[in-house]
Amino acid sequence: MESIKVGLLGLGVVGGGTWSVLQRNAEEISRRAGRQIEIVHVAVRDVAKARARVGDAVSITNDPTEVVSNPQVDIVVELIGGTTLARELVLAAIGQGKHVVTANKALLATHGTEIFEAASAKGVMVAFEAAVAGGIPIIKAIREGLTANRIEWIAGIINGTTNYILTEMRNRSISFEQALSQAQQLGYAEADPTSDVEGFDAAQKLTLLASMAFGIPVQLSRAYVEGITHVDDQDISIAERLGFRIKLLGITRRRPEGIELRVHPTLVPANSMLANVEDAMNAVLVNGDAVGQTLYYGKGAGEEPTASAVVADLVDVTRLHTADPEHRVPHLAFQPESMVDIPV
Ligand code: HSE
Repeated sequence: MESIKVGLLGLGVVGGGTWSVLQRNAEEISRRAGRQIEIVHVAVRDVAKARARVGDAVSITNDPTEVVSNPQVDIVVELIGGTTLARELVLAAIGQGKHVVTANKALLATHGTEIFEAASAKGVMVAFEAAVAGGIPIIKAIREGLTANRIEWIAGIINGTTNYILTEMRNRSISFEQALSQAQQLGYAEADPTSDVEGFDAAQKLTLLASMAFGIPVQLSRAYVEGITHVDDQDISIAERLGFRIKLLGITRRRPEGIELRVHPTLVPANSMLANVEDAMNAVLVNGDAVGQTLYYGKGAGEEPTASAVVADLVDVTRLHTADPEHRVPHLAFQPESMVDIPV
């Protein structure tokens, strides 16, 4: 069978990892997808640098709209980040009947409802496993593995930078500022770490998890968000003496009034599984009415862990597209469901 054709927007850390994983594991991936997955067109800022990486067989441009409108391309992988250009490109790709794979949590947390509705109208897929908890297949777990369940709640460590900072503050008795500086040196935190340390990154991911788990539209503005910038050494040692650890948790659950969404530093019993998730690792606990509690643990960021999720989405989309090239498969449908405003 002819290969499925992919257009890649961005060849940075995750784009480069996606390229490498697709090349290295080409045989297994093709077998699982039922056909070869071929990157045919790449949009980057630096064409010469990309040429050195991907060779001569792939078209390279610095105009992403060329990739989106390339009639050969079946799936557009958006890895450029941001919410403005990325939104335009994703909507344009959907408008042309192309499936989209994205790692862009900020885009989906902000414009997800518009994007999912557009995809639904066209019968194409928007897959975003890489947008939440990097390499942990948490979206697939909720959507497929736990699909028999009424999800009651989800609680997770879904930001690696803050988990690293809190771990270092506790284990090495250093200040927030020292731990943050280490996180930046190790490449965990961004140069501007606001989104990580103020909890916004976790809130974006939580909003997507809640949307999947409860079938509600993406509603980032309804989340209560508090980061870790006010956590100090005294908080950590008092928590310790009382038998707890402080973790930045994203929590979403059903309440009689609606769905609750919140991110804040939380006292977690020291002998619990979440308390023992250290360094920059992520972990998500999901409670379903049939299965009870299930725990998912792994790397929430990084080149190949995130690429692992992008490629898994490519395989999924390839299978679906091959089974139904006319795009008649219904996309996710969200139920309007009430949300709870969390008192501050
Ligand atoms: N800054 C994020 C984190 C990267 O620390 O988890 C992955 O989304």
